[in-house]
Amino acid sequence: MKLKVNGIEVSLTIDPETPLLWALRDEMGLKGARFGCGMAQCGACTVHADGIAIRSCVIPVGQLQDKAITTVEGLGADHPVIKAWLKHKVAQCGYCQPGQIMTACALLKAKADASPEDWDVAMGGHLCRCGTYPRIKKALAELTGREQSHSNHQETSDQEGVIHGGSYE
Ligand code: FES
Ligand code: FES
Repeated sequence: MKLKVNGIEVSLTIDPETPLLWALRDEMGLKGARFGCGMAQCGACTVHADGIAIRSCVIPVGQLQDKAITTVEGLGADHPVIKAWLKHKVAQCGYCQPGQIMTACALLKAKADASPEDWDVAMGGHLCRCGTYPRIKKALAELTGREQSHSNHQETSDQEGVIHGGSYE
């Protein structure tokens, strides 16, 4: 079967029921999307299909042959979301960050001035064991040109963010 990944058409000999994540990591060597839960519950495996954020651990490749797949490797170092993540030193261990970044990109593409409420809805399904949620909000505040108006984390230190981590809120 053929998949289009990061603008390149790739031919794979693979069971169409194989989840995309395994095709990306094991067949194509694209290790950016991560395995976390394998149950569409954590967001670590998030990539784009035609610009929509999807959980690649549960979507069979057979359903994606007519889609343009984009992984974090396809964004490029100059992508504004990557730059904002670096500027605000979002990543700690980094495991969850490719997924977080891909969802942030999809959100901003759909709504460039996304509100803090929009951030919560879009990013709420991503888990970060390191508690980087306050830094993600700082990066999104810059990217959207918005203040973190309702956020309890506005004056919260990153260390407090770690302590209170465990959910996006
Ligand atoms: S690994 Fe796909 S959502 Fe957790
Ligand atoms: S940065 Fe470590 S899990 Fe999110």
